[in-house]
Amino acid sequence: MRLKVCTEDQIREGGVKSLKILARNVAVFRLNGVLYGLEADCKHMRASIAYGKIDGTIITCPAHGWRYDITTGDCLTEAWAKLKTYPVDVVDGVVYIEI
Ligand code: FES
Repeated sequence: MRLKVCTEDQIREGGVKSLKILARNVAVFRLNGVLYGLEADCKHMRASIAYGKIDGTIITCPAHGWRYDITTGDCLTEAWAKLKTYPVDVVDGVVYIEI
């Protein structure tokens, strides 16, 4: 299912747009001009990683500090805790995500 997220200018460089889609928390990040769609529920206790601190391509969960690679969904804290990634594209200035 392909869904509209926002307009492209609503996600600044180094920023994130979080949204809830079908009871899932999802986040779209912009890093070095590239958009990444990622499951946003931390695998530890489901806090939203969208409110975490970004350092390069790594985001740190604001609740207890688990760390994830935004570009792959890999968890650097617990190897089993990979977040789902979702394809994102832009058409005519509108950001879409494939869930
Ligand atoms: S909920 Fe993310 S580290 Fe605990």
